Amino acid sequence: MKFKYVCVDCGREYVTDDIIYQCPECAAKSKEGEFPRGYLKVIYDKEDLQRLKEKDHVSIYDFFPYEVPNKEVYPVGTTPIVVPKRLNERTGLRNVFCKMDAYLPSGSFKDRASQLIAAQAIAHNTRKIALASTGNAGAAMSCAGAAYGLDIILFVPQTAPINKLMQSVLYGATVVPVKGSYDDAFLLSIEYTKHFGGINRNTAYNPMTIEGKKSVSIELFEQLGRKVPDVVYVPVGDGCIISGVYKGFYDLLQAGLIDRIPHIVCAQSEKSNAISQAFRTGQFRSIEATTRADSISVDIPASGRMAVQYLKSYDGWCTEVTESEILDAQMILVHDSGIFVEPASATAWAALEKDRDMLKQRFGEDASICVLLTGIGFKDMAVFDGRVKMPEAIENSTQAVIDRFSK
Ligand SMILES: Cc1ncc(COP(=O)(O)O)c(C=O)c1O
Repeated sequence: MKFKYVCVDCGREYVTDDIIYQCPECAAKSKEGEFPRGYLKVIYDKEDLQRLKEKDHVSIYDFFPYEVPNKEVYPVGTTPIVVPKRLNERTGLRNVFCKMDAYLPSGSFKDRASQLIAAQAIAHNTRKIALASTGNAGAAMSCAGAAYGLDIILFVPQTAPINKLMQSVLYGATVVPVKGSYDDAFLLSIEYTKHFGGINRNTAYNPMTIEGKKSVSIELFEQLGRKVPDVVYVPVGDGCIISGVYKGFYDLLQAGLIDRIPHIVCAQSEKSNAISQAFRTGQFRSIEATTRADSISVDIPASGRMAVQYLKSYDGWCTEVTESEILDAQMILVHDSGIFVEPASATAWAALEKDRDMLKQRFGEDASICVLLTGIGFKDMAVFDGRVKMPEAIENSTQAVIDRFSK
């Protein structure tokens, strides 16, 4: 579909077939200690979108700016919906369901963006893609790289969980651990593409990442029988996933396929709450994030301004949770519903639990509530150190079994 780029801050439009990242005018106004400016949205012709209304079924690819070649080599999408029945009985919210993006090829939501970036690279005859990541975006891009035969250069904070780093190494990416934070790795990856070329896939910096991520909303719309939920909980760090979720619903609205955008909740850790603070105060200040949920630990949210704009425009809100609420939610999900996710994902469930009474009052016990679960639990097993004890081995004898179960 034909598209143009629109600056989130000044509304300036850019019509080009070249790859562009930011509005140069607004990017130049970015100040240290504040959320960056000048990030771009991809906007389609409303008439083109409205033509999709004629179709009985829409696919995520109907809403993409690039053709995705050979989808079967890296199948992204149609993730299952899981109904955590035991938990719903406990919370008294009867219609809560989890959208299991943790089950995508590399184990996280980030495959959605990486699929479209791979398509962008192939369309522009480029084989090299550089990015920074807290771990999951890197693993997803590296997975796409292995599937499509692309060269991935990945800058990561050296403290990222080893499983995520190992995944990228195994997929064959060039991994560059950085002695610094995710935000430092972000800037270094931009320096890399300035010096050595290739596409930069940094989250939100490349507008196509948000375009890829929007596919979850289009998929949900079809999975729910052409309806949208009342509320969607999204775990947030940089604000790129939540902006993508909004963008999908926005495109459906423009197409005339839905008549409202759901209430979307920005779930953050109290120890990484830059977007929540900006939503509350109107000040776009960076913070020092210290959450254990590494995937949402962000000082300067790249897509922070866009996320706050969306939240304000469509009656969303932010819910902050404590570190122990996040780790408890991770345990509750795995133990009482068989859903094993990493701490960042569990943040969305923790926020739902925190909002429980308010949700019942405002929307009723039958409200349709989606919790977006973005990353699989195997990604970070070290988080269980000191929290979960492996039972001791028994002797290889019948007597040992009898002893073990007779106590
Ligand atoms: C599993 C998981 N959940 C949530 C997020 C947060 O997404 P964003 O940084 O776009 O807000 C990330 C980002 O890395 C992630 O990997």
